Amino acid sequence: MAHIPGHGSGHRPDAIADDIEIGPLDLPARVDEALAVQAVAFGLGAEEVAVRRQIVLRHMNNPGARALGATTPDGRLAGFVYGMPNDRAHWWSTVVEPYLRARDNDEWLDDSFVITELHVHPRHQNRGVGRALITALTDGAAESRSILSAIDADSPARGLYHSLGYTDLARQVVFPSAPKPYAVMGAPLPLRRR
Ligand SMILES: CC(C)(COP(=O)(O)OP(=O)(O)OC[C@H]1O[C@@H](n2cnc3c(N)ncnc32)[C@H](O)[C@@H]1OP(=O)(O)O)[C@@H](O)C(=O)NCCC(=O)NCCS
Repeated sequence: MAHIPGHGSGHRPDAIADDIEIGPLDLPARVDEALAVQAVAFGLGAEEVAVRRQIVLRHMNNPGARALGATTPDGRLAGFVYGMPNDRAHWWSTVVEPYLRARDNDEWLDDSFVITELHVHPRHQNRGVGRALITALTDGAAESRSILSAIDADSPARGLYHSLGYTDLARQVVFPSAPKPYAVMGAPLPLRRR
């Protein structure tokens, strides 16, 4: 496992906690650890974790699905990100498509890498880990842009995405079964550096 790919030793433009390493994550093998991080970061109950577990395992079978983890020196997962090339036939894409089309933004669904989940354990937040994870994952994408959805509120996640160049493509997007509306955001790749 390496520090952030492409950065020489001793100089890392993305400030990240020195003791955290970013590298490939075997998400199917470590799905329970990842969901434990998500449960505390995002707030998931046991039932939601069980549902997410099946979804994550299914997602990781998609062509081009990739995951990265942030790991502490004792090998624990401090955060993770995963995503995949967008496919208009995927459930997420079919939900957001009419909202994007209404604002003439539906071309963002093509040639786009979707960030499906990004979560950092609260103990390790605000140290550049989330920024390093999403930047490294999208740097490995062949697509020219990236899209994602985030709860439509002023949150650390939305602040981070804005600072990486993501802009709002649709607001108040309602996913069946989700209690709160989402914003759909898109950014050109590579993501903006500070
Ligand atoms: C979103 C999340 C992954 C960010 O991870 P992180 O490691 O804390 O983020 P980083 O330290 O890399 O980046 C911090 C950036 O977030 C933004 N940010 C942090 N706190 C913020 C706040 N209170 N308000 C607005 N923006 C904030 C800033 O843009 C900040 O960048 P800066 O350091 O240049 O100021 C993390 O907060 C998290 O796991 N949250 C809960 C789960 C979640 O919401 N996941 C996203 C689902 S869409």
